[in-house]
Amino acid sequence: MKRRKRSKNLTIILLPLLLAVLVVSGCPRRARDVEQVGPAERIVIRFSHVVSEDTPKGLAARKFAELVHERTNGHVEVQVYPSSQLYMDGEEVDALINNHVQMIAPATAKMTEYFPELFLFDLPFLFEDYDQVHHFIDSQSGQKLLQGLHGHGMLPLTMWDNGFKVMTANRPLRKPEDFRGLRFRIMPSLVLDAQFVQLGAQVTDIPFSDVYAALERRLVDAAENTPSNIWTKRFYLVQDHLTVSNHGYLSYLVLTNGEFWNSLPENIRAILSETMEEVTAWQRQIAQEKNAHDLDLIIQSGQIDVYKLSDSEKEAWKKALHSIYNQFLPQIGQQLLAEALALNNCHTK
Ligand code: SIN
Repeated sequence: MKRRKRSKNLTIILLPLLLAVLVVSGCPRRARDVEQVGPAERIVIRFSHVVSEDTPKGLAARKFAELVHERTNGHVEVQVYPSSQLYMDGEEVDALINNHVQMIAPATAKMTEYFPELFLFDLPFLFEDYDQVHHFIDSQSGQKLLQGLHGHGMLPLTMWDNGFKVMTANRPLRKPEDFRGLRFRIMPSLVLDAQFVQLGAQVTDIPFSDVYAALERRLVDAAENTPSNIWTKRFYLVQDHLTVSNHGYLSYLVLTNGEFWNSLPENIRAILSETMEEVTAWQRQIAQEKNAHDLDLIIQSGQIDVYKLSDSEKEAWKKALHSIYNQFLPQIGQQLLAEALALNNCHTK
């Protein structure tokens, strides 16, 4: 009697262990949906970002989650937390390093503190259009740059697009002199700081989640961002003027926690990498459309005066800002900058 009880107890203890061994050893299993995959078997990836869902980054994160779910039969669950729901700027990198989240996609500007080479992407007027950006990222130099962006426990997965930035302010911005005395909200990048200081403005680094309030309360007078961010976060309601300057590019570095990534089974890593590559290609198409569409919506709203910079006005901005390239040469590296410029030249011809 006693022996039977002991063997029953043993079965209770050993059965879950046996099941776990079967799962880990990759025994053939029939495809199951997420409800059939037990919580203990599920791999959860928490993906935190700061923008709205209906933006190039928000849509890409969601698509990635959907495809991964489909392709792993619910074995891997990517939980996307948009709009700083989990962590805001300044917190999400620490959260990634400490594995509280497993993926983030901050603007490259926000990663320059860790990887100064990324100052390259903040240089004003470096890229003329999306094709030039992609041409650079896909080039040998771009890929070498991307692969080198690891350290502090982080691993780079890919780069995503937002788009070209425009300026908003509570007064018209057409000539370089118009910037004088204004206080701009910036992302934390010394290049962006230098860009506005060069134009006689002041800067304050404010997390994205606080920008609307800062503009509304006039803690700052002006900001730069993409149409998709300005539309989805309603910045156009608290600014009077928007200048379509396309003076700089906002791109994202998609990062994962290195230890977490390396702990994943190889077949899962392969699915995640392939899916990420596919989503990157898809995201490149929708980012451009989304920004053009959201700029139209901003214009149609009639809530802000929209002005497109003429070619000669753009030239004056370029001239006023050009010295920044030399200023950041040591951090970016002469070779990388030369390669980016050369690629742009040959791509434009
Ligand atoms: C983002 O697009 O992730 C936010 C950009 C910003 O902070 O302005």
